Amino acid sequence: MNLIESGQRMAGELIQFRRELHRYPELSLHESETAAKVAAQLRAWGFHCKTGVGGHGIIADLQGNQPGPVIALRADMDALPIQEETGLEFASASPGIMHACGHDAHTAILLGAARLLQSQQLAGTVRFLFQAAEEINAGAKAMIADGALEGVDEIYGLHNLPTLSAGKVATRCGSLMGSVDRIEITIEGRGGHGAIPEQSIDPVVCASSIVMALQTVVSREISPFDPVVITIGSIHAGEANNVIPHRAQLTGTVRTFNPKVQERIPSQIERIVNELAASYRCKAKLSYIHQVPVLVNHDECVLHTEAVIDRMIGRQHRVEAAPTLAGEDFSVYLGQVPGCFFWLGSGPAEYAEEAFGLHHPQYMLNEDCIPLGASLLAAIAIERCK
Ligand code: NI
Repeated sequence: MNLIESGQRMAGELIQFRRELHRYPELSLHESETAAKVAAQLRAWGFHCKTGVGGHGIIADLQGNQPGPVIALRADMDALPIQEETGLEFASASPGIMHACGHDAHTAILLGAARLLQSQQLAGTVRFLFQAAEEINAGAKAMIADGALEGVDEIYGLHNLPTLSAGKVATRCGSLMGSVDRIEITIEGRGGHGAIPEQSIDPVVCASSIVMALQTVVSREISPFDPVVITIGSIHAGEANNVIPHRAQLTGTVRTFNPKVQERIPSQIERIVNELAASYRCKAKLSYIHQVPVLVNHDECVLHTEAVIDRMIGRQHRVEAAPTLAGEDFSVYLGQVPGCFFWLGSGPAEYAEEAFGLHHPQYMLNEDCIPLGASLLAAIAIERCK
């Protein structure tokens, strides 16, 4: 029996597991029950697992009886602060919390891969990483700090994609997903009467100017061939319509697709913020917080992944992934070891591109992707351990 058929035979069990996670979602850093269910399943199958890794993460190793490489496979386990509106019978029982990114399915898929690999001859070790806190860009760093990548030669992972039909997979060499940085800007002026501005230093006008000028980084300082987004998502200043406030506070997100551009942006933003603030007689303070790097796949690992996919499901079911500036903390692992991250179609068979996207309250996942994802991850690992 091949791995696709073996995966299909486990489909019912994996889908049931996924639905249980879906019903009881947990936010980042609070995945204790989810982790307990995963560890219990792994132990029931005879795995030794290390829990409490990088928060609520889990590591389980499957050692072959021949020497060989250590191949890591990773899934994320956390949910989002979203009120579910799917009406599914196994919809979230926790108000305001939803598996709207399909990490419940990723967890079931990785469990399936672990089970499938147990019955295979391995030359090397497959390490299963069940990661917490992906949605807040914290889990991968914490897993690595707790030794998750020690001895690892390559790492692979996937994310479901509801706008791609289940049964299809999307891959891409090089950059796949954007970097994620956070900016916090405080503009200090001097408050006063709204009718007598000459006695004040107005931080609101200064902040407005900074919001507009930051867009020139995208359009005037970076090549149009390098995608960049700077979004100011919050502005807070003042309480009354006729009072000039003391200060304005802005927060924003910065996304890039080229690691060299990500390096250059902080100094460009800092220059605009400081010099513009000075021109308005304000003082500015910028905090530039690096969260995750650009997700850059390693070409050799992508070619390996593509070869396995083509052999398992046929070249006609693989497409080239479109780039996105959404972020994913799998990029942190890829900064340390070679590997490949790819998209697993999780949408309806027809008109998938019209499906609700990730993080939507009506996001739904086509569960056909679960056994397929398990079979593909298992095959990717086993082909490296021959
Ligand atoms: Ni996600």
